[in-house]
Amino acid sequence: MNDPKRINGFSRLDKASRRNWLREQFLDTEAATVLSQFDVDGALQEVLDNFSENTVANFPMPFGVAPNFIVNGKTYAVPMVIEESSVVAAASAAAKYWMPRGGFGAEVLSAEKLGQVHFRWSGSPERRAALLPSLCTRVRAQTAHLTERMDARGGGVRNIVWKHLPEIAPDCYQLLVSFGTADSMGANFINTVLEAYGQELRRWATDSPELTDDERDLEVIMAILSNHTPNCVVRAWVSCPIEQMNVPGSGVDAADFARRFKLAVDIARQDTYRAVTHNKGIMNGVDAVVLATGNDFRAIEAAAHAFAAQDGTYRSLSRCRLTSDTFHFELTLPLALGTVGGLTKLHPLANLSLQLLGQPSAEELMCVMAAAGLAQNFAALRSLVTTGIQKGHMKMHLQNILSSFNATTEERTQAECHFNGKTVSHHAVRAFVESMR
Ligand code: MEV
Repeated sequence: MNDPKRINGFSRLDKASRRNWLREQFLDTEAATVLSQFDVDGALQEVLDNFSENTVANFPMPFGVAPNFIVNGKTYAVPMVIEESSVVAAASAAAKYWMPRGGFGAEVLSAEKLGQVHFRWSGSPERRAALLPSLCTRVRAQTAHLTERMDARGGGVRNIVWKHLPEIAPDCYQLLVSFGTADSMGANFINTVLEAYGQELRRWATDSPELTDDERDLEVIMAILSNHTPNCVVRAWVSCPIEQMNVPGSGVDAADFARRFKLAVDIARQDTYRAVTHNKGIMNGVDAVVLATGNDFRAIEAAAHAFAAQDGTYRSLSRCRLTSDTFHFELTLPLALGTVGGLTKLHPLANLSLQLLGQPSAEELMCVMAAAGLAQNFAALRSLVTTGIQKGHMKMHLQNILSSFNATTEERTQAECHFNGKTVSHHAVRAFVESMR
């Protein structure tokens, strides 16, 4: 520990001491002032600090709104937290495009979550059918105090399957448990119940009169929810007559646009290189709403990509269908969300986002979020198969580079004029700004 950049007990330091230590060991004094630049008032700062550990600063992200989203006939202003330029603009443009064409439809196909207890057991796989009913009754009874409130909210444990996993080891088993979690994401609820199941499973092996002595060796390996949520799935879609699929200023007529659009989606259904980028575009919209509403974007991402690869090949999450006169575009993806619990009430902006959305149920939020993902995908493909994306991106890129040079309003106006139709690069913008100063 002679190296002063190594430390014991960082977590026990108060925030000021952590900042001091970082300044002394890693930062210059000017850089270190940024750490306190985004602090907020006392009580709120304490709430933010308590979300995580070793906190030294707040990390601000832009919070935007995409208005004019019609989902199942209801109008939403959708909150989006994202650092990438053009995403909110694209979502807003797509929402506006579909507004006079009937908006977005969406339906929740299923809303079930899963968890697993993994264990080793000395009994034979054939005994499972005979033992499962009483085991289920026992674990359910022993955890009734944990599930009571969720049961009352319409959730709780739905089903228990006892799987044998000989491909891992001959004595490897799993309880696969499905849950309803009402309007909560339910991670804590599921993990608490599963850990209690694990404990009861151990007791069952020790004292169940149904077991022979050879069947009493049971070792619980782990109990945890699964973020693979193929039974918590929502579908969103848009549809209209092909003749209405005009894209003014693109130089492509409605029928040609629909044809090129469908081909772009078909490419992403078959080609993994394209599918990953295509789905990344969908997740631009989804993640931004996930973050704004205080949900878990890592869980949503992991589940979406597993779902995209469910037949063994990674494919586009969206599909496009053309009949002789109709354009239909849809997105199906898993979204395990909560609108109560977790950060949803604690984070003032997550709370505000849910208020903006009219305090939706988890299922309603699934619908809105899927619509945001589909809108994002539509906007990206619309640009890609017509003008290309750089045209729109470059406008935002120019603004970001100008910000890095602290450009004045006058300088911005002149730069916008100068770069209209020209390639925007950091080097070129710097040269232009310097020529003006
Ligand atoms: C950029 O963040 C997202 C896109 O690459 C998505 C796509 O290519 O479909 C524009």
